Amino acid sequence: MKKAKMILEKDFQISPIDNRIYGAFVEHLGRCVYEGIYEPGHPLADEQGFRKDVMEYVRKWNPSVVRYPGGNFVSGFKWEDSIGPVDQRPKRLDLAWKTTETNEIGIHEFYDWTKKVGAKPMYAVNLGTRGALEAKEVVEYCNHASGTYLSDLRIKNGAKDPFDIKLWCLGNEMDHPNQTGQKTAFEYGRLANEAAKMMKRVDDTIETVVCGSTYYYSPTFAEWEFQVLNECYENVDYVSSHIYHGNFTNDTADYLAGASMLDDYLHAVIAACDAVKGKKHEKKTLNVSLDEWNVWYHSVEDDEKIKQQSPWGTALPILQDVYNFEDALMVGMTLISMLRRADRVKIGCMAQLVNVIAPMMTRKGGGIWAQTTFYPLIQASTYGRGISLLPQINCDRYDTLTYTDVEEVKAAAVLNDDGHITIFAVNRNLKDDIAMNLDLRSFGKTEVIEHSVLHHDDFKAVNTEANPNEVVPHNVAPTLEDGAIKLPAASWNMIRIKINQ
Ligand code: AHR
Repeated sequence: MKKAKMILEKDFQISPIDNRIYGAFVEHLGRCVYEGIYEPGHPLADEQGFRKDVMEYVRKWNPSVVRYPGGNFVSGFKWEDSIGPVDQRPKRLDLAWKTTETNEIGIHEFYDWTKKVGAKPMYAVNLGTRGALEAKEVVEYCNHASGTYLSDLRIKNGAKDPFDIKLWCLGNEMDHPNQTGQKTAFEYGRLANEAAKMMKRVDDTIETVVCGSTYYYSPTFAEWEFQVLNECYENVDYVSSHIYHGNFTNDTADYLAGASMLDDYLHAVIAACDAVKGKKHEKKTLNVSLDEWNVWYHSVEDDEKIKQQSPWGTALPILQDVYNFEDALMVGMTLISMLRRADRVKIGCMAQLVNVIAPMMTRKGGGIWAQTTFYPLIQASTYGRGISLLPQINCDRYDTLTYTDVEEVKAAAVLNDDGHITIFAVNRNLKDDIAMNLDLRSFGKTEVIEHSVLHHDDFKAVNTEANPNEVVPHNVAPTLEDGAIKLPAASWNMIRIKINQ
């Protein structure tokens, strides 16, 4: 069997992990809100129309933050449409997804839903087609106690206590030509600065997230970050980055090697933040909010047809990627990348929560099931909290069509608050198992107590409502006879270690 080695040292730590990296994203898009979290009339809907089965799955995920209401959607959205008596809310065309927004679910309902699932909202303001004043006003509506027109309106609409939303996104993907209200870096940087300034004057406890580039290979990447931050560094707290992976060429080795793109991307975004920090002689360090990440490519072709067939429909079945086993490995590696940069990645939102490029799917009037990608997400969110350790990993490397010098084993290690160590590791070798030796040095006596493996012989295997357990993790013997951990070819692994003091 091939060999690898992981060395962990108690005092070699990357950083405490911010629990907000296990966040989610809910956009008014496709069947995420309507027929996803909200389906009045469903046998499992609660008194507000929220599906209880969806909430149950979300509680397993335990996302600390949920970004809302978009996405591209937010750049055409008037937040005022989404408050007040539901039957008086206007229906509007949503130009981002060519659908009709009914506004049945708005700020109040979404806030109630986050409370039910135990998460905090992360609210995005529209800086595409609206300005600083509207951004300031929604903060006042949500967070100001009382005594002004907007805060009293919130009370009149049923919320006596402020929502106290702490995290605010300053628009969405403002560099992208498709974004309604796209801006140049200078235009956006100035607007983001003025909006953030006004929003923070209303409530100085909030934090703001400024838009970085839409993707790593966007033509203005890094220059965008630098110019935008040059205009607004003082008034923002995080830079947003987005990444979507896809096996477009149906080359699994190349696809999985591409997980390292996120490492390069984060490195470059952090460098841009620090360059502006240096230029301005600033004390404050900006961190990264990876507030959209996932695999997204399966549904792309069909979506165009669906939109053409049902123009301006509501709850169109778009972006309904059905994830296979190799996608689960990619999702696992994205989580590993975030853990490895826990020092600077403080927020992460898997895009999205349900039905729309999501780890769980529902059928209208029917059931719910977990996609393959659900499992690495749940395991990381459950056991990936605490301190991210700095692992030394010695393993073979390989080249693919696009990438060179790719580590076969991509892994992260976490010192959990309860004193366990949890290792997450993906063996990217598609043919060979790897025996990974653990050198735990200063941890003293330790015992591997659990080894859970996600593997399927068919890279394209999927879970469906009828067959929801095709790709699920299985517990295996924790160690080989010599104490090494067997990482099967093409597998996601979660290894839990007890430290016996
Ligand atoms: O998550 C789907 C879309 O992807 C979002 O609306 C947009 O921000 C991104 O391009």
